[in-house]
Amino acid sequence: MMSISQVRNGVIDELNRFNELFESVLSHDDFLLNEVLKLIASRKGKQMRPLLTLLCAKVFGDVNQHTLLSAVSLELIHTASLIHDDVVDESDERRGLLSVHKAYSNKVAVLSGDYLLGIALKNVALTGSIELMDLVSLTSQHLAQGELLQLDINSKNLSYEYYMEVIKNKTAELFSACAKAGGMSVGCDTATQEQLSRVGEYIGICFQIKDDIFDYNPNSKIGKPTGNDMKEGKVTLPALYALKQVESKDYNDIARLIQQGEATKLDIEKMRVLTLEQGGIEYAYSVIKDFADKAHQLIDAFPQSKVKASLHDYVEFVCERTV
Ligand code: FPP
Ligand code: MG
Repeated sequence: MMSISQVRNGVIDELNRFNELFESVLSHDDFLLNEVLKLIASRKGKQMRPLLTLLCAKVFGDVNQHTLLSAVSLELIHTASLIHDDVVDESDERRGLLSVHKAYSNKVAVLSGDYLLGIALKNVALTGSIELMDLVSLTSQHLAQGELLQLDINSKNLSYEYYMEVIKNKTAELFSACAKAGGMSVGCDTATQEQLSRVGEYIGICFQIKDDIFDYNPNSKIGKPTGNDMKEGKVTLPALYALKQVESKDYNDIARLIQQGEATKLDIEKMRVLTLEQGGIEYAYSVIKDFADKAHQLIDAFPQSKVKASLHDYVEFVCERTV
């Protein structure tokens, strides 16, 4: 099985330089703000997004200050979005620790997320790149749009298309931006930037489907509670597939109740059992494989380099990861 350290191998020095810069922005003289920033810094996660930016930059050139600033700004947007997401989803845990709103309060979580967005913009400004500014603003819009789409009961339908629209916006656009920003930072032409953007999008889709599969696995080590998606009103790909297989009005009614936040524990358990019985998890893995294959094909056409192999490894890790 592919390990994250294997993927990191190709960009160890660059990742250290990223971390120095990232940690330097996560401190402040104000006591409360500094305390929250330290909490955030202490659980930096797998750093999948900066890793992608560094790898994509290194396939086409040398990682430079522009690359690092791009990676820092996008990681800050990501961190802010998770703090806000835990408020929206009322989730108590993140990466094995209390979420910021649980450790402090909703007010502190919203405001510290806003503070991170402010530093993200500052880091974009330091590159002097209007193109990066455009990319980061558009990506932030997509993140919020995806979350709103997921919330909006009127627009919700129980389809593959609706699910894909949500995950493209809330997750894949950010991976896409990270890959594209890496290429932009080393002067890739527009066509190459577009290919990197697609690679990132396909990886992001795989990443979110895998995240949704984790929710069915009580033994998972991902550092957040499992079995939560349906409680939060989310009917994800494995369950959507099961619903389509049985085409039952009763189960469709249960799914609607889940989306409206009105399902009982028993309803949720019925839907979970149906999903497992109907092969929803296996189906979700098959969709991951389709998107991973598309990412590998695009990467194959990139110039030969040691880091290109790491990019393939990165895709494998996203598909196989247990954390
Ligand atoms: C996790 O999804 C959440 C996201 C991928 C995006 C969250 C985005 C926002 C709250 C919009 C805020 C926008 C900005 C620019 C700050 P999940 O809830 O399915 O996964 P989880 O299990 O990790 O919580
Ligand atoms: Mg969430």
